[in-house]
Amino acid sequence: MQVVILDSAEEMGEYGADEILRDIDAERLDVLGVATGSSPLPVYAALARRASPAVAGLTAFALDEYVGVAHDHPQSYHWVIHRDVTVPLGLDPARVHVPDGAASDLAAACSAYERQIADAGGVDLQILGIGGTGHIGFNEPTSSFGSRTRIKTLTPQTRRDNARFFATPEDVPVHCVTQGLGTIMAAGRILLFASGLGKAAAVARAVEGPLSSMCPGSILQLHEHATVVLDREAASELTLTEYYRFVFDNRPDRHDE
Ligand code: F6R
Repeated sequence: MQVVILDSAEEMGEYGADEILRDIDAERLDVLGVATGSSPLPVYAALARRASPAVAGLTAFALDEYVGVAHDHPQSYHWVIHRDVTVPLGLDPARVHVPDGAASDLAAACSAYERQIADAGGVDLQILGIGGTGHIGFNEPTSSFGSRTRIKTLTPQTRRDNARFFATPEDVPVHCVTQGLGTIMAAGRILLFASGLGKAAAVARAVEGPLSSMCPGSILQLHEHATVVLDREAASELTLTEYYRFVFDNRPDRHDE
């Protein structure tokens, strides 16, 4: 796992946009995995500023969706992805996919979502955030490392963390559908973004802690191409910070820059 520590949200966004555009240029990125939440917003903003026609040609798959929330509800991830990703990046809405949490048969909708990802050739690059519980997607602690898209129950902590987006804490849905850890791990490359002190403990457990379903993000230690992009606050509970900075400053793939 590579750990990149940057000084500001803007730098994190520019870093993410550079990596995405580099992969598109190298013809290894057609299908982008997108996350909702605050963490990836600087990346979407930086990509939107570049206004690259190559970005507009991407297919996108979102990680998760609340159960029982209509697609046009302002807090549904269908709506949030449309507002934060599809419109600013100029993507074709027909090529932007979000799990269907409003389906009458949720299990069938989850299986169909897995098939859609497979039919698109799989996710080439997955953008992630991490929750205070260590979740990635909405895979809360004790999620199976082999899990696929399915229904999950949010933890009280995640419901409290996400209450800021709803009128009252009780309005936060209890259930969600989310890509599984096995689904996420099948992506060719992963970029996880986290900022702020509130993420420091979860980041330290995911990056340096033991591999454990108690911190679902720790599964990224098994991914061949996972990069964790942090600000100083989110990196503050890591022990090998100096080494991560040294590795970044001496990247073997950048010796000619
Ligand atoms: C969002 C998602 C979640 C968030 C995580 C962090 O689609 O799957 O895992 O990435 O809850 O949220 P923020 O970025 O709002 O702190």
